[in-house]
Amino acid sequence: MDKHTKRSIYIETYGCQMNLADTEIVSGILDRQGYRICTDIQEADAVFLNTCAVRDNAEQRIYGRLANLKPLKNERSHMVIGILGCMAERLRKSLIEDQDMVDIVCGPDEYRNLPMLIDDAFGGEKGIRVQLSRVETYDDIVPLRTEGISAWVAVMRGCDKFCSFCVVPFTRGRERSRGIHNVVREIEELVSRGFREVTLLGQNVNSYRDGDHDFADLLRKVAAVDSSLRVRFTTSHPQDMSDKLIETVAACDNVCKYIHLPVQSGSDRILELMNRTYTADHYLRLVEKIRRAIPDVALSTDIIAGFPTETEEDHRMTVELMERVRFDGAFMFKYSPRENTRAYKMGDDVPDEVKGRRLQEIITVQRDVSYQINRQLIGSMQTILLEGPSKRSEKEWMGRTDTNKTVIISNDGYTAGEYVRVRIDSATSATLFGTVATISESLSAA
Ligand code: 5AD
Ligand code: SF4
Repeated sequence: MDKHTKRSIYIETYGCQMNLADTEIVSGILDRQGYRICTDIQEADAVFLNTCAVRDNAEQRIYGRLANLKPLKNERSHMVIGILGCMAERLRKSLIEDQDMVDIVCGPDEYRNLPMLIDDAFGGEKGIRVQLSRVETYDDIVPLRTEGISAWVAVMRGCDKFCSFCVVPFTRGRERSRGIHNVVREIEELVSRGFREVTLLGQNVNSYRDGDHDFADLLRKVAAVDSSLRVRFTTSHPQDMSDKLIETVAACDNVCKYIHLPVQSGSDRILELMNRTYTADHYLRLVEKIRRAIPDVALSTDIIAGFPTETEEDHRMTVELMERVRFDGAFMFKYSPRENTRAYKMGDDVPDEVKGRRLQEIITVQRDVSYQINRQLIGSMQTILLEGPSKRSEKEWMGRTDTNKTVIISNDGYTAGEYVRVRIDSATSATLFGTVATISESLSAA
């Protein structure tokens, strides 16, 4: 029996979907070494927090979590605590120096060293591994996933865009892609295990490359694995959204008609300062092109309020762009200065209350637009993939449309993973409510 067999590891994941995928990779690495991945923190010999550093409030949450893990650590002196992910990479040894309960600090490209770090930590030795790599993609690691309907599959890592506000190029390093055949093989395996939906992940999936194959080629190959598998992808940078990719989304029935296309701002002056490499006009033309090629496409975006030097006029241009595009959804944030980024040196001159007010304004605009778009769907038929009981009640089930909208139906003994044809009866800005017409195993028949 392996010496680690009885060691149980508990991992909490914060931040983006990439971190969810990384937690499954870490679990795969540890599982292969004979550790047990547990879901009850009370059983844990080691607790890891897989962290986010994109905004300061994400980091504050981790400090808060560490503070409330303290009693557990005091109770069980042998318990090891580790910080993984972007915050580990950003803060490095200062994390161990400032937080004496932290034993391990391990950045996103060093997860293969975790078994060694854990062994050392159980021996009483703290450890830090934060080297970034130009080649690490964990392509050979089998992620440890719990059974389910929907899986995240990282196809590339890192980012070379260097948007001036963003810490990701510093915490996740340079762009690199997995091999196309390995991605396809992983998805075949997921399909054979009963998964019905995959989301291909990358900080900027559009710059995926494996030899002559680009992201559109990968998407087409993944879509061909099984016509009843829904295929999603995120995130797309407007600069790299090629005609070929748009045509591929339009041509493949099981590639979802939903594109997350962060715009960040509607002001050309701010976009330039952000190093986004497009203008508002470019963006609007891209949206038009996408809508022409994929008529029912849903679009979502990311927006930052209160970037350095942002004036009321800049902010108004963002609101105007939102009103012109009419996004189905948006993730909206107050600007948060991150050390080492170019924007950090521009100062943080928009007062917090101004940021807060601008954020509230764009949230209100978006909520109105989402509500109007959702209301127009009342009376329409939608195919949804059932994911399970709704968060609110066992009596209700939730599923998602191709365009990524949440639909609630009453539970009539359905099974997760079924496609059901639903008539939409009512809508809020965030949710649709419907009645089932037909159930099917396959996407085309539903
Ligand atoms: N402050 C606020 N929001 C940020 N984002 C990235 N960096 C920052 C920052 N420093 C947002 C961007 C990005 C999303 C993932 O997070 O909108 O698209
Ligand atoms: Fe950050 Fe820009 Fe890269 Fe997105 S594209 S991860 S915002 S640097």
